[in-house]
Amino acid sequence: MLFLTTSDWRSFGFCFLYFSLVAGTQAECPVQLSQKSVVVEYGDSVAVNCTATVQHDGMGWEADEGRVEKTSASVITWSVPNLREWEIQPFCYINYVKLPNTPPCQVQLPVTVYKTPDSVSISFVNHSGPMIEGKQYELQCDVQNVAPVQILSVIWYKGQTRLNQTTFTDTIKTPVNKTDTLLITADRADDGAQYGCEAKLDLGAEGPQPVNLKSLISTVHFKPIINETILPSIVTVFRGYQVELVCEAEGNPKPNISWSLGGVETVYNKVLTVSESTPEDVLCNASNSVDWTTKQVKVSIQVPDISISFVNHTGSVIVGKNYELQCIINNVAPFKNVSVRWYKQNQIIHTDTIKTPISNMPKLLIEPNRADDRAQYWCEAELEAEGPKNYPKMSSGHLNFTVQYISISFVNDTGSVIAGKNYELQCIINNVAPSKNVPVRWYKQNQIISNVTIKTPISNMPKLLIEPNRADDRAQYWCEAELEAEGPQNYIKISSEHLNITVQFKPIINETKLPSTVPVFRGYPEVLTCTAEGNPKPTISWIVGAKEIFTESLNISELTPENVYCNASNSVGSTTRQIEVVLKEDYLPLIAGLIAVTVAFISVIFVFIFSIYYKTAKMGRYSLKDAKPSAQNGNIAQNGKHNPIPMKKLSQSSILA
Ligand SMILES: *[C@@H]1O[C@H](CO)[C@@H](O)[C@H](O)[C@H]1NC(C)=O
Ligand SMILES: *[C@@H]1O[C@H](CO)[C@@H](O)[C@H](O)[C@H]1NC(C)=O
Ligand SMILES: *[C@@H]1O[C@H](CO)[C@@H](O)[C@H](O)[C@H]1NC(C)=O
Ligand SMILES: *[C@@H]1O[C@H](CO)[C@@H](O)[C@H](O)[C@H]1NC(C)=O
Ligand SMILES: *[C@@H]1O[C@H](CO)[C@@H](O)[C@H](O)[C@H]1NC(C)=O
Ligand SMILES: *[C@@H]1O[C@H](CO)[C@@H](O)[C@H](O)[C@H]1NC(C)=O
Ligand SMILES: *[C@@H]1O[C@H](CO)[C@@H](O)[C@H](O)[C@H]1NC(C)=O
Ligand SMILES: *[C@@H]1O[C@H](CO)[C@@H](O)[C@H](O)[C@H]1NC(C)=O
Ligand SMILES: *[C@@H]1O[C@H](CO)[C@@H](O)[C@H](O)[C@H]1NC(C)=O
Ligand SMILES: *[C@@H]1O[C@H](CO)[C@@H](O)[C@H](O)[C@H]1NC(C)=O
Ligand SMILES: *[C@@H]1O[C@H](CO)[C@@H](O)[C@H](O)[C@H]1NC(C)=O
Ligand SMILES: *[C@@H]1O[C@H](CO)[C@@H](O)[C@H](O)[C@H]1NC(C)=O
Repeated sequence: MLFLTTSDWRSFGFCFLYFSLVAGTQAECPVQLSQKSVVVEYGDSVAVNCTATVQHDGMGWEADEGRVEKTSASVITWSVPNLREWEIQPFCYINYVKLPNTPPCQVQLPVTVYKTPDSVSISFVNHSGPMIEGKQYELQCDVQNVAPVQILSVIWYKGQTRLNQTTFTDTIKTPVNKTDTLLITADRADDGAQYGCEAKLDLGAEGPQPVNLKSLISTVHFKPIINETILPSIVTVFRGYQVELVCEAEGNPKPNISWSLGGVETVYNKVLTVSESTPEDVLCNASNSVDWTTKQVKVSIQVPDISISFVNHTGSVIVGKNYELQCIINNVAPFKNVSVRWYKQNQIIHTDTIKTPISNMPKLLIEPNRADDRAQYWCEAELEAEGPKNYPKMSSGHLNFTVQYISISFVNDTGSVIAGKNYELQCIINNVAPSKNVPVRWYKQNQIISNVTIKTPISNMPKLLIEPNRADDRAQYWCEAELEAEGPQNYIKISSEHLNITVQFKPIINETKLPSTVPVFRGYPEVLTCTAEGNPKPTISWIVGAKEIFTESLNISELTPENVYCNASNSVGSTTRQIEVVLKEDYLPLIAGLIAVTVAFISVIFVFIFSIYYKTAKMGRYSLKDAKPSAQNGNIAQNGKHNPIPMKKLSQSSILA
């Protein structure tokens, strides 16, 4: 038998009878209850049949309410229209004749009288307002006027998440007020979360699920937390540029943000513009009602730095060797490209463009020569940003270095030398480090002519005494020194320039061309040629009487004085040669000529003896007279060096003489 009433939970008029399908005859007691047990809400009606399964001698219900007197009927009903007894324990009894003299047997009907809570409430214990992160709080759930407490569960929730469940072991059947608490630790994630507690009566699997849920919204206050991902602990600011720092902080209530600049100035803004003039230490301060937080930011002003130096070398360099210069550029991180220009004495000698970050500093190979001694090298860098803003050019310091070189010169700076005199050459070794033994060798035309080892510092430059002769004109002298060098080759030879010497000497008159005595025949002018060797080239002049004629060739005749002088002079000196001109009054050649002509004419024209003889003699004189002026006017005067006619006549005359 099933008695079931359904009604809405909130109407509080609900009655539920739990009916067990397996309810049946008691083994000892031959009765059957229509329900094995009964759950009924306080004040509701209840009815349970007790049916005898055997012949009996009377049966009935015993209960505080709804008692049924002993009767002979075989189905009796315990029925209460308004159950108001919390601890009711009804039982059905029967008297039957199976075993006479035994007491009547009875079957108990378990009855649960329940009452849903009048109210459920949730609250903080001794706290009001928002929670502070990290602190512990107690939540309290008050369930009022509920029975029986044994089947009550208090379930705690955060949002949809079940946190804990509390059951009670009290045996009391009458309604009670129950309080349960839950300890929570406030977390910022729980800000705005819904905490709830639920009072639930466990009325069995098929029963209704009467729940009473209450909840509250938690507010969690927490101290500011500065977002460190957007706020570095060191900020690098390039000189002349600005960087914006943003300080953001989480917090409840929303934090106030301010910046403290070196403890002097305070800026009430999230954003701080940092420049060269910003103090080194800035603090971001985030505060709210809970607490305050600070974060320190170090401001590092980045100043670009450029310098020039040798790679693996310091001090002076050796002429002709290779050296590497490097331009070291630091602190240029924010720039993309660096244009590097190399200077030597205000002249750009090389350019480079490099990318940042710089892995290899720009280098320049130089081979210093003598002119580089104390030359100034430097480099200049121009930093190129991505945008239009470039950094001003920066220059390194000047790299000054001395060049070790050797040079040759005359001790008393003479341009040229005079044959036969003594001169001193010196070998000047420049910029060599002290306390070194320097071997020096002297060369003349690829031949070592002297060697010496000197010690630095050099008090007396090595010297070489020479006495040049004419043959040394244009000879080359130089000197060579061995210097200590870096690297596997311990010594390096350096040579001076070649000194070309010019040897000057006094004129030497060529005597083979100019004999000391020259005969001259009347009527037969001659040419004397005076040549002379000398350095510088000599000036030739003839001294004839009181006159000096500046010419190499001199015409002489019977009118020429007895002594003429050829003078050859240059800056070194002068040489004079005296020539004696001997006049020869010799008509022999003339007579011989006349005889020869006469004989010729006699033999050719025999017939004309007298008149033609006279005429022939007259013509012969004329032809001789014609020959003289033509020779004088023409070849001899203007070109005495090679005149066939006078030469022929001279040789003729010398043969005849
Ligand atoms: C009890 O028995 C009576 C009569 O025999 C019947 O009318 C009634 O429905 C039964 N009640 C239950 C709850 O079984
Ligand atoms: C609540 O506060 C009162 C007074 O401040 C104190 O007496 C009581 O013990 C506190 N209760 C709890 C549970 O902290
Ligand atoms: C849940 O309740 C049990 C019993 O009351 C208690 O021991 C346990 O600490 C509680 N858990 C939480 C998270 O409150
Ligand atoms: C439960 O609390 C209510 C209200 O505070 C009170 O009236 C009632 O008497 C209490 N009941 C018990 C059993 O303490
Ligand atoms: C910090 O700021 C960045 C950028 O705004 C953001 O992505 C990140 O979630 C923030 N971190 C915290 C812990 O708030
Ligand atoms: C935040 O700043 C405002 C205005 O500057 C001020 O009124 C308020 O009191 C500050 N709050 C805190 C927690 O410092
Ligand atoms: C410079 O010296 C270092 C170590 O002394 C060496 O590793 C490097 O190769 C040298 N560089 C040059 C260019 O000689
Ligand atoms: C190089 O010489 C210049 C001019 O003589 C001088 O101003 C500069 O300081 C020198 N540099 C160094 C590194 O000595
Ligand atoms: C060089 O000149 C100096 C002074 O001018 C003189 O004393 C010296 O003797 C000269 N040396 C030679 C080799 O002419
Ligand atoms: C230099 O002179 C020394 C003797 O004075 C000689 O032994 C040496 O071989 C010479 N060296 C050269 C390179 O001529
Ligand atoms: C010396 O003469 C050589 C060859 O004639 C020439 O090459 C060299 O330049 C000259 N040296 C000087 C310093 O004039
Ligand atoms: C003198 O002149 C002759 C003829 O030109 C020449 O052969 C000779 O070499 C010259 N002598 C000298 C010393 O120059």
